[in-house]
Amino acid sequence: MKKVVFLVAMLFAFSFTFVSCGGEQANEQATGDSLTQEVTETDEADFSKGIEVYKVKCQVCHQAEGVGLAGAFPPLKNMKDRQVILDNIKNGKKSANYPAPMVPVPMSDEEANTVADYVMSLK
Ligand code: HEC
Repeated sequence: MKKVVFLVAMLFAFSFTFVSCGGEQANEQATGDSLTQEVTETDEADFSKGIEVYKVKCQVCHQAEGVGLAGAFPPLKNMKDRQVILDNIKNGKKSANYPAPMVPVPMSDEEANTVADYVMSLK
């Protein structure tokens, strides 16, 4: 009986962790004077846009915050060259290091720029 209680408690804790991650940054910077502000690479509002694109188009493979998945998807932390990110989004990538290639990910130039800014910010 103790074992069952323990299992239920674990399940509960586990699902709670799952539900609580993700989404918490979404609303923080959504408001603000986005019509008048100049967009620069260090602009935080710009990162929040990039995060949204990342969640939809990259996270399924490269995981939250670009940690990657050993043996399958490379981490996207400490990328040095923004152009490489843009090239990979546009043209995909196939090296000998991973079993499956990355196929091109269709998006607008603006989305590619914001997601590249976000990826460059990952440490
Ligand atoms: C369907 C899975 C998948 C998705 C979605 C995906 N990638 Fe990839 N990505 C890969 C794989 C696999 C590789 C490794 C390819 C190789 O080296 O053969 C890769 C490699 C990369 C690299 C090169 C990393 C390095 O160390 O050189 C970058 C940069 C990258 N992806 C960025 C992105 C971005 C940005 C997005 C979202 C717009 C994205 N990827 C979406 C699977 C994916």
